[in-house]
Amino acid sequence: MSSPIRQAVLNSPAYPFSAIEAKYKLDQNENPHDFPAQLKTQVLEGLAQTAWNRYPDLNADRIKASIAAYEGWDVNGIVATTGSNVLIGLITELAGIGQKVVTVKPNFSLYALEANLLEADLHEVPLNQNFSLDYVGLSQALEQGSGVLYLPQPHAPTGSLEDRGALETFLATVSQNWIVILDEAYYQFSGSDYRDLVRQNPNFISLRTFSKAWGLAGVRLGYALCHPDLALELQKLVPPFGASLFHTLTVQVALENPNYMHSGVAHVVAERKRMFELLKDHPVWKFYPSYTNFFLFRTPDAQAAYQHLLERSILVRKQNSLFGLEGCLRVSIGTTLENDAFLQAALEVTIEHPDS
Ligand SMILES: Cc1ncc(COP(=O)(O)O)c(C=O)c1O
Repeated sequence: MSSPIRQAVLNSPAYPFSAIEAKYKLDQNENPHDFPAQLKTQVLEGLAQTAWNRYPDLNADRIKASIAAYEGWDVNGIVATTGSNVLIGLITELAGIGQKVVTVKPNFSLYALEANLLEADLHEVPLNQNFSLDYVGLSQALEQGSGVLYLPQPHAPTGSLEDRGALETFLATVSQNWIVILDEAYYQFSGSDYRDLVRQNPNFISLRTFSKAWGLAGVRLGYALCHPDLALELQKLVPPFGASLFHTLTVQVALENPNYMHSGVAHVVAERKRMFELLKDHPVWKFYPSYTNFFLFRTPDAQAAYQHLLERSILVRKQNSLFGLEGCLRVSIGTTLENDAFLQAALEVTIEHPDS
């Protein structure tokens, strides 16, 4: 039977996620602490005083102004949308359709998903065994053609961070035929910051989000920092009036009160250190060092490990179907209580396949 729907869409899987309830929810790299109650009140009071019958800003202008002040960035070089995942789709529309999308594997699944949906020519270069970038493979993929290069830094889902010097040396060789995306969704947890490189390169974009360190995953807001000429083109693809009053007020209040974010990040970094000390010599599961708010770990049997944790009310995310991640799972760094529950369950595993 024929269908008006493009074959690429019919062939693509839906985004691989199903919501499951559990007492210790550690499956989505979320911030374990909610947006502070007094800041919520400020947002809600602001909303009550604003007219809801009027459209919000055409291009999220007040959101951009708040971000520009916080980031020290030219307001004309910012594009803000409802989640950085929207920007991944739009950037693929901007320079991927009919061209190439180059990225790595394993990887955050959305780059490849969007490339396939939009029928871009997708090249996924395998990471090295230690999860570092294969610069020779990447150079080969970028040798011909033009399009988009997606690199998360730190990387998801491995939690690794590339050596800055090596990455900079490589990026200096990438031609202007490529839009280079440094997806910095987790940069607050690694202390890395690629804004200076983006400032020097008119074809580079830093992608940032309010979903992780800012604890606003439920609000949906992400943004691109780039050269104003590039932002002008990218903005054309964003639907008009896309960000609501709620987004506008929440971003304003969050960015005026960054202390809660800094203390949340300090908690994650301290917990990450404590957990890794206890887990790095695990007799059965291999925990990889993390520069993010989650750990990737390899087990002899992902389903058995997942089940072992779920039976103890701990929900993690399977990663074992991704390239090179056989047996792997991912766990968010949560509250101290949540992390203790995970540690106890993990440290109970002293022999292979405890539940099989
Ligand atoms: C590397 C990376 N980029 C982007 C996103 C999407 O973030 P947002 O919530 O802003 O859409 C995620 C979400 O987990 C991510 O891991």
